[in-house]
Amino acid sequence: MSQLIVALDVQTREEAVAKIRTIGEAVDFYKIGLELFTAEGPDVVKAVKDLGKKVFLDLKFHDIPRTVERAVKSGGKLGVDLLTIHSVGGKAMIQAARAAADEFGERGPRILAVTVLTSLDQGDLADVGILGRTPAEQVAAMAGFAVLNGAHGLVCSPREVGALSRSLKAGTLFVTPGVRPAGAEVGDQKRVATPADAVRDGATHLVVGRPILAAADPAAAARAIREEMAGV
Ligand code: C5P
Repeated sequence: MSQLIVALDVQTREEAVAKIRTIGEAVDFYKIGLELFTAEGPDVVKAVKDLGKKVFLDLKFHDIPRTVERAVKSGGKLGVDLLTIHSVGGKAMIQAARAAADEFGERGPRILAVTVLTSLDQGDLADVGILGRTPAEQVAAMAGFAVLNGAHGLVCSPREVGALSRSLKAGTLFVTPGVRPAGAEVGDQKRVATPADAVRDGATHLVVGRPILAAADPAAAARAIREEMAGV
């Protein structure tokens, strides 16, 4: 069963806790990103865990292997369930992240690799020395590389998830933002899919922010998305 993760794109711990209380039992998984973590630090992770929820810590680690290994350990101690690294950090970094996660056993964090940021186009890749590959080719290459070196899964766009889920080994996690229920405001997302489409294409986790957080009834919005996911 695919899981719904709500992006806690708010600025304070108080707002985060209030949103989680409002949504209640409709959602048990939340993403904490750079904005909220930089403002509130590990206390916000603890606050979400104290409410009995799972945490996806989306800080996109990219550093030398030892530093990433120790950062993953810190995440594991906080009880983080999913966390992100950049696949361009190289194989030793990815392997170090996985080794650190494995120290926590079954309850340890699952490592998700970011392949190519969706904000980058072909010209941006050329600027950083990636020549001769389209963004899609670079995504496919980095996805295989990351999973081969120990990543449990990938963060990918709804446009990519179908091809990746067909080509990578069973059990790989595919975490997909850019999801919009039919009729919802698209906002600044350019390549969106409905929850049902994303699940059909192999997404194991959907990350949804504004369609739930900004809804008049966030719990009802979340339940509607879960029903659509379950109907696939
Ligand atoms: O509000 P919305 O549903 O667009 O939020 C999606 C969440 O997923 C945000 O936290 C955003 O930063 C994140 N995300 C994304 N696209 C990516 C990677 C992450 O929208 N390619």
